[in-house]
Amino acid sequence: MNTHFLLYRSKARKKIQTETIVDILAKSIRNNREEGLTGFLHTYDDQFLQYLEGPQGPLMRKVARIQKDRRHTDFLILAEGEVEERLFPDWEMGQIAD
Ligand SMILES: Cc1cc2nc3c(=O)[nH]c(=O)nc-3n(C[C@H](O)[C@H](O)[C@H](O)COP(=O)(O)O)c2cc1C
Repeated sequence: MNTHFLLYRSKARKKIQTETIVDILAKSIRNNREEGLTGFLHTYDDQFLQYLEGPQGPLMRKVARIQKDRRHTDFLILAEGEVEERLFPDWEMGQIAD
């Protein structure tokens, strides 16, 4: 099965709180496991940087869902394409803190 990847950055509407990250990660780990998605979420200042990889259909549906999330804005896709093998096969959603 092909593995698609997408990297985007966005800006938090409010200062990023630990509770916000914990909530996003908890949901992501549960949902992404079911949908075969893996990747990481990095936060720095008021910015999010997220990398997602997995089957193209579920991945693009997830990205469309995430893009509508009111907690962030200024969503910008930085890179998108295919990878032969997953880079983060064990991370339903890893957190990389600054
Ligand atoms: C920066 C950011 C990254 C997110 N990443 C994911 C993700 O990887 N997987 C996911 O399911 N939801 C993610 N979300 C949350 C979704 O926007 C949405 O709130 C969630 O999928 C809803 O889950 P539910 O339908 O189970 O309540 C993210 C939200 C933000 C703001």
